[in-house]
Amino acid sequence: MARFIEVARVEDVAPGTATVVQVGAAELALVNVNGTFFAIDNECTHRGGFLGEGEINTDWSDWAIECPLHGSVFDVRTGEVLNPPAPTPVRTYPVEVDGGVVKVSTE
Ligand code: FES
Repeated sequence: MARFIEVARVEDVAPGTATVVQVGAAELALVNVNGTFFAIDNECTHRGGFLGEGEINTDWSDWAIECPLHGSVFDVRTGEVLNPPAPTPVRTYPVEVDGGVVKVSTE
């Protein structure tokens, strides 16, 4: 069974924003889309921009996060690239919310 690690409290990440969280050795971007949390790799596959410092860009979709460096856009639900220059998707991770605590599994 996957082990979920506490990474934030629900109120730490406002809807429509993202933050960088640490899960063991992995650095992830935790994104709040209208109250639903998603976790993806923090590093953009283009040149390593921090997606946890990016912004939701609703021009692409409600689930689109834009890299702050050169504008690549990823779907936080699937990791899919919606807009280049990122060449490949990012990984996504399971998230659960339990009593106001957001937990992520990287297993
Ligand atoms: S590092 Fe993300 S778009 Fe270049």
